[in-house]
Amino acid sequence: MASNTARRPVDIYIVGLGIRNVQQITREAEQAIQLSKKVFTVHAGFGLDEFLKTLCPDVRSLVGKYEEGGDRLRTYRAMAAEVLNAALDDSPVCFASYGHPKIYVYPTNLIEKAAPLLGLTVRVLPGISALDTILADLGLDPGPNGLQMYEATDLLARERPLQPDVPCLLWQVSAVESAMYSTKRGNAERYRRLQDFLVRTYPPGHQLTMVLSPTYALLEPLKETFPVGELAERLARGLQIGTLYIPPTHERAISNPDLLREAFEAEHLDRITTAS
Ligand SMILES: C[S@@+](CC[C@H](N)C(=O)[O-])C[C@H]1O[C@@H](n2cnc3c(N)ncnc32)[C@H](O)[C@@H]1O
Repeated sequence: MASNTARRPVDIYIVGLGIRNVQQITREAEQAIQLSKKVFTVHAGFGLDEFLKTLCPDVRSLVGKYEEGGDRLRTYRAMAAEVLNAALDDSPVCFASYGHPKIYVYPTNLIEKAAPLLGLTVRVLPGISALDTILADLGLDPGPNGLQMYEATDLLARERPLQPDVPCLLWQVSAVESAMYSTKRGNAERYRRLQDFLVRTYPPGHQLTMVLSPTYALLEPLKETFPVGELAERLARGLQIGTLYIPPTHERAISNPDLLREAFEAEHLDRITTAS
């Protein structure tokens, strides 16, 4: 692990475990886990805790804190409190969530906010997110057209403007419209408002893809493609977990052709750079 003598010792490591079981854990996450006295995990991966125990014998899953019909925010607070308590008791400890620990992982934010008030230091290490795996599974490069991404309930609550020429990823579609934890499948009613909102921007025949990246080495990504005008019915009977990809409807025209021309001119590069 990179050492910085001016830095205070870390009390809480926050790491991401990646999406594909044990295969996407980074070397620095492994090192943080090895340095920790306890590791608190949030993931559904088979055999993952057993692997983590080879790095740190004291691994505790926080997944049992979810309660059917229970308020998810309360659960996240309980998870954060357990990690903070353990760090106050005997640090360093590690909070390890699947994916990237700063992409829709509320306990991370709570731990980061509360730790300084308790005199604890935190170090967040990135992990491979579903964002990364989705780009690979869809063959999507944000370079040419950018990328917009929103949490599904937040999109509806704020009526965020969507740009139809920019690819879009919608997260937590399966949990849309409720802050309560539930393992029950959503019915068409759950997804109707999302469909109605999306057809304000996209033509009803525009094809969307629900994508679930593999969580085990031997699996292929699951993808279901359907028109936005059928979203509610298709989600009600098809794949609900995963992320909803909305491809762009068109490419935005170039507004500044002079800039593009200059970008290919050596004289322009000379003008905007300084000889070293
Ligand atoms: C609470 S967020 C956690 C995201 C995680 N921290 C990450 O970086 O991937 C859960 C959401 O991530 C997305 N997600 C998680 N696992 C996925 C997978 N295997 N394939 C596609 N999307 C996934 C879905 O949008 C899901 O609703």
